[in-house]
Amino acid sequence: MRIGIIGYGKMGKTITAIAQNRGHQIIDKIDVENRDALLKWNPQEVDAAIEFTAPNQAFDNIKQCIKMGIPVVSGTTGWLKQKPELDAYCRQQQGTYFYASNYSLGVNITFKVNQYLAKIMNAYPDFKVSMEECHHIEKKDAPSGTAITLAEGIIKEMDRIDHWSLDQGYNPNSIPINAVREGKVLGTHKVQYSSEFDEITLEHKALSRNGFALGAVLVTEWIQKRKGILTMDDFLDL
Ligand SMILES: NC(=O)c1ccc[n+]([C@@H]2O[C@H](COP(=O)([O-])OP(=O)(O)OC[C@H]3O[C@@H](n4cnc5c(N)ncnc54)[C@H](O)[C@@H]3O)[C@@H](O)[C@H]2O)c1
Repeated sequence: MRIGIIGYGKMGKTITAIAQNRGHQIIDKIDVENRDALLKWNPQEVDAAIEFTAPNQAFDNIKQCIKMGIPVVSGTTGWLKQKPELDAYCRQQQGTYFYASNYSLGVNITFKVNQYLAKIMNAYPDFKVSMEECHHIEKKDAPSGTAITLAEGIIKEMDRIDHWSLDQGYNPNSIPINAVREGKVLGTHKVQYSSEFDEITLEHKALSRNGFALGAVLVTEWIQKRKGILTMDDFLDL
């Protein structure tokens, strides 16, 4: 495939290396100093774009790709309040975009186990649910997109929980999320249920950026024959 990279930072570089190893051609790499070059991309020359930039940039980048008729795979987190608007634009343009808060297979398995566990814990009100996520100090958004997806999975399954909060004070209807920024941590997420007598912890720890990057490249290969607004549930048969 001929792939265009938008955002040549930690993820953009890892994705480039993995895509090239898998035999793909990197047509262009866009970062802040050559942003205008994106406007000149041509769907006859770029089969798909992969976008990993910053929370306040993703919406415009994805929209631009849809406008140009280039399918786009995005992993940027922290912009999802604008997703309904982007979905409407994508439908109107009959475009194609794929979004996931996390492209690692292990995290997506954790999402499923999390929802299953929450469904069980719904019947046990003595257990209080809480979450912790830890990432490197350069991460711009908090809580992480992955933590929000985990929290949404719990909210869906538990009648007594209706929101998440960064506030650590006890509220029976909320999931407190402790967002820690530390060193070079790639991403650790914990969901914990605690009662007077027990603690149950579900934990995922990313060991390498390659897990996210490979997932994004595999999705990019997969979307070639697909159209519309796509998610990990469409891609993975879990
Ligand atoms: N979905 C996932 O699996 C996953 C995994 C890791 C990181 N992320 C997310 O991906 C994003 C990028 O992460 P990173 O670790 O590569 O960050 P990074 O800061 O290392 O890289 C981001 C790059 O984007 C560039 N950039 C900023 N605005 C731009 C624009 N308008 N056009 C083009 N380039 C632009 C920056 O200059 C930088 O080089 C973050 O939101 C992060 O949370 C998602």
